[in-house]
Amino acid sequence: MAIISLRQLLDHAAENNYGVPAFNVNNLEQIRAIMEGAYEMNSPVIVQASAGARKYAGPKFIKSMMEAAVDEFPSIPLVMHQDHGGSTDDCKKCIDLGFSSVMMDGSLLEDQKTPSDFEYNVKVTKETVEISHKLGVSVEGELGCLGSLETGMGEKEDGVGAEGVLSHEQLLTDPEEAVNFVNQTQVDALAIAIGTSHGAYKFTRPPTGDILAIERIKEIHKRIPNTHLVMHGSSSVPQDLLKIINDNGGNIKETYGVPVKEIQEGIKHGVRKVNIDTDLRLASTAAIRRHFVKDPAQFDPRKYLVETKDAMKRVVMNRLKEFGTAGNADKIKPLSLTVMASNYLSGTLSPKIN
Ligand code: 13P
Repeated sequence: MAIISLRQLLDHAAENNYGVPAFNVNNLEQIRAIMEGAYEMNSPVIVQASAGARKYAGPKFIKSMMEAAVDEFPSIPLVMHQDHGGSTDDCKKCIDLGFSSVMMDGSLLEDQKTPSDFEYNVKVTKETVEISHKLGVSVEGELGCLGSLETGMGEKEDGVGAEGVLSHEQLLTDPEEAVNFVNQTQVDALAIAIGTSHGAYKFTRPPTGDILAIERIKEIHKRIPNTHLVMHGSSSVPQDLLKIINDNGGNIKETYGVPVKEIQEGIKHGVRKVNIDTDLRLASTAAIRRHFVKDPAQFDPRKYLVETKDAMKRVVMNRLKEFGTAGNADKIKPLSLTVMASNYLSGTLSPKIN
């Protein structure tokens, strides 16, 4: 049994200067791709499910898939994380299902569309931390809203995300506010807004510092060096995958993601968790489109789904190598959530604010 808490994994990553990709899952092929990739790379990994995933697959299927992953790959430390919880209640439901980590996204109100204010965010996040830490479960909070510094628009995907135009202040996490937020909530990890957004359409050109604010990560990390930072919307949107999709009947417009070298720069400055969903979706779509163009008579799902799984696995292995996660699975001695709970209680895990 190697389900571990996000906090244990990110502490190890910080001590050893690496980052960890957090891959979203909805189905069997994705979870197999992630686990096989992590196993081949001797790598710990974070698997996360959003409300959309729980709705698509059903919460019990998601739970069972994650448990099966642990049973089949016992040597891989695995964090079961809830992505973008809309309320403390949402987080509680995932904890009851066996998740070892939750994200309380209080940057938006419970509708997960309307930007909230700082006081609301602190209140719901703190409440979630109090409940979770008693059980050894980790909490990720978010400060600032995901959205585009190019257009000023919030991002909305799968019905989740800020709606409409956002101010520059809302789109970039304020370092001073981050200090207050972590102090007041005691979150284990903090998602920050730096111009990234969910989905394939992040940037209309290869991003430069004005639209992808890596400098902001450095400023925040200087102020809260002991808090693990999280980059959301961090798919790289590989151009070769877009080409395969479009060469095989797809129609994805010109778009750019977050370059791996920018993520690596973030990792040098406190980024420990890197959220990736779109890249696996693109890999899977590219594989399936190519398969059907090559073999239009095919009707056995196992024949084309195995190709989607292998394509996703290649992305997984690349990111595990690129973020320095590979090679660390057997260096982590899993701590139970009960041990984590007593560590929180004794105060050894509180983020120390300088
Ligand atoms: P991408 O859409 O860039 O993969 O981001 C996923 C994410 O941040 C999930 O929370």
